[in-house]
Amino acid sequence: MYQAPRGTTDILPEEQPYWRFVESVIAEVTRLYGYQRIDSPTFEETGLFTRSVGEGTDLVDKEMYTFDDKGGKSMTLRPEGTASVCRAYIQHGMANLPQPVKLYYITPVFRYERPQAGRFRQHHQFGCECFGEDDPAIDAEVIDLAWRFYKTLGLKNINLNLNSIGCKECRPAYLKILQDYYRQHINNLCADCKTRLEKNPLRLLDCKQESCQHIADKAPRSVDALCPACAGHFDKLQKYLKALDIPYIINNRLVRGLDYYTRTIFEVQPEEEGSQSALGGGGRYDGLIEQLGGKPTPALGFGLGIERIILNIKKENVKIPTPSPPAAFIAYLGDAAQVNALKLAADLRQAGIGVVSAGGAKSLKAQLRQANTLGVCYTIIIGEDEVKAGTATLRNMSDATQKTVALNEVLSHLK
Ligand code: HAM
Repeated sequence: MYQAPRGTTDILPEEQPYWRFVESVIAEVTRLYGYQRIDSPTFEETGLFTRSVGEGTDLVDKEMYTFDDKGGKSMTLRPEGTASVCRAYIQHGMANLPQPVKLYYITPVFRYERPQAGRFRQHHQFGCECFGEDDPAIDAEVIDLAWRFYKTLGLKNINLNLNSIGCKECRPAYLKILQDYYRQHINNLCADCKTRLEKNPLRLLDCKQESCQHIADKAPRSVDALCPACAGHFDKLQKYLKALDIPYIINNRLVRGLDYYTRTIFEVQPEEEGSQSALGGGGRYDGLIEQLGGKPTPALGFGLGIERIILNIKKENVKIPTPSPPAAFIAYLGDAAQVNALKLAADLRQAGIGVVSAGGAKSLKAQLRQANTLGVCYTIIIGEDEVKAGTATLRNMSDATQKTVALNEVLSHLK
């Protein structure tokens, strides 16, 4: 028997109300902040991701679904959403539009990770990207959008973690300070951290190994090494977040798994769990558009994992709207009745009334059972007597009362 590939899931009908609910909140908050939807291809040239996310990151080195197409070009299934939107921004000349350009997406993302609770090989992200403005007020607005999204969903037990990792001017000096500090502790580092020390020192702060915790906790902080421009940006952002009443935690060990970030970074976590379960994250990437061949353009955004958000909606027992069942079920007995049932169903649907019918030749009992399971308000019964008389029996499913009405009056009765 075939199974869904490891780390992927079918979103079954009973799960769909959660997805529709999340999508409806996305539509609402993106409208409030003036974001426009963009959909990009599921795969891109591999170079787009290696250049933006960065070689040396786990995402690029270990997790991408990369393949040669039949023309011999290396392609990769989208391992994150930002790079494609940046490519589209450059390709379609969006720098010529009034800035900032605000785009959002809901998209499947593919990562060859070790599957576990809340970690999949295909997951979905709601992402926002905002191009062309470096004012920290926009950082605050983007964070406000994400925060409003979680709050509108009804999530309460979440934390917002914030940090600044500087820019290309001040980061190199900070990395040097960080490396010098870690070199003093090299004998106590885990094997991964020994590699990180040379290849990607910022990620040292993110290590989950018990033995590295106290070293990371005492490590020099990026916020102490910011240049005056980055420090000013971070101060203003915090002032704005306070003005907006958005509670945040400065987390000096917050770094992100992708290389393109500058200055502001943030992550939203469920209160009681570690960073493996981040509900979303993002930040500034002021150098990325230029790195991909565009004009220097400040930008920032976030990606929020929809599967993890739905897990937390369930954990927090958030009540979500349930879709209403079709209004009516048509049960029939015999060939002639089936023709009447078909025509009646078409008329009711034409008038906007949802109708289902079982098909085939089932007993009345079986058909009524099905109507009950569906939770319809009315069952319309057409048997041989009704065919002869040109009528239908209308059964109110909530109180089991029945009445006979002319076939051509069923619609007005239901209305
Ligand atoms: P990311 O932190 O790699 O950022 O992913 C964003 C979110 O996607 C995570 O916080 C998490 O909720 C969810 N997620 C990531 N991997 C998985 C997985 N394997 N299974 C389930 N959920 C997952 C980015 O992708 C950036 N592009 C975000 C961004 C946009 N930064 C700026 N703009």
